[in-house]
Amino acid sequence: MYRIGELEISRLRTLFESGKIFRYGQGGECDRFEQRWAEHLGVAHCRLTRSGTAALYTALVGMGVGPGDQVIVPAYTYMATALAVLSAGAIPVIADVDSSLTLSPQDVKRRLTPHTRAIIPVHMVGLPCDMDSLTQVAREHDLLVLEDACQAVGGGYKGKMLGAIGHAGAFSFNFYKNITCGEGGAFVTSEQAICDRGSVAVDCCSFYWNPAEEREELQFAGHNFRASEPEGAILNVQLQRLEGMLAKMRAHKKALLEAGVDAGLESIRNNSLEYECGTHLGFFFPDEAAARAFASALQTQKVGAFLPMDTGRHVYTRWDPIMRYQGAHHPALDPFKIPANAEARIEYQVDMCQVSLDILNRSVLLPMHPDNTQKRVDEISAAIRQAAAG
Ligand SMILES: Cc1ncc(COP(=O)(O)O)c(C=O)c1O
Repeated sequence: MYRIGELEISRLRTLFESGKIFRYGQGGECDRFEQRWAEHLGVAHCRLTRSGTAALYTALVGMGVGPGDQVIVPAYTYMATALAVLSAGAIPVIADVDSSLTLSPQDVKRRLTPHTRAIIPVHMVGLPCDMDSLTQVAREHDLLVLEDACQAVGGGYKGKMLGAIGHAGAFSFNFYKNITCGEGGAFVTSEQAICDRGSVAVDCCSFYWNPAEEREELQFAGHNFRASEPEGAILNVQLQRLEGMLAKMRAHKKALLEAGVDAGLESIRNNSLEYECGTHLGFFFPDEAAARAFASALQTQKVGAFLPMDTGRHVYTRWDPIMRYQGAHHPALDPFKIPANAEARIEYQVDMCQVSLDILNRSVLLPMHPDNTQKRVDEISAAIRQAAAG
């Protein structure tokens, strides 16, 4: 969370005084946010969910992904990306990231099989994937593309909004994201069929509350991942804050990147510096020891820095339910065991994405913050120069 305060409090006060905190009604806060977020991204549909994980799952259901399918996910992402694939009944296939710390289009090609149905490019730590190349691979092999923009809310790629480039996009609004309502998420799409199926997954009874959505032929047993009005209200205020915060972080990142490169550091590849979120700056080192020395020199100077390898459940080797083939709460529902996946199943090994492990061990990320003053940016810049000098 970057900023939250009086504006959100007063919006919530008004909402609670009205007593209307259930989402369905006439043009309430959730309806308004869904419409505004879809407009902001330039997509036709947005559905609020309870979390980013639920957004990924409901989008996959909307896309018709299920047993018998493989879905390619990157080796560096929060494990929810891969777990959502299992929730939909499909098999996650893990592919390497490249020097942008995001899904490698070349490795996607290497991991394709006749069962590959979709890819999930993840815009990690606000860094956009190489969407031109990934979209081309997807087109050539007739694959669906679900963008995981949970860590890149509001970011763009070459003038397009992240989450709006693939067939569907998923966002998280949890506490750590660019805008937050505590916990929350949304999936977006411009395809009516994805929206319709996904909506049933979001709310098993959405058509009851919203008769305009009635689709008898589409009904299946869904869940309840619907948002509530307080969350919608907070998000409507947070949305006002988003652009200004990202603009600041983008500018800070550019200045600090320049300082680092001037000091002889190698930047990670930034696929779209002009449009990305600017939430993290990244440098590459010849080996892990050099990366750790740089990070600890910055930490000594009270500048936040970390190796992506150290971020726990964000590296595939730490995705226990996958590495241990624990795909569901019941064996009869477990995608790793069901007959429909007999040909789609794969084996997971700790060294199956060695290229990623090497990249994640040799890079250092520095988080930006919109409240950093010019003085603070200058201090970080000086710390980067000093740490680079060794
Ligand atoms: C890349 C990525 N995907 C998915 C998620 C899941 O989002 P949530 O925590 O809202 O379920 C997260 C959350 O941290 C994430 O970072």
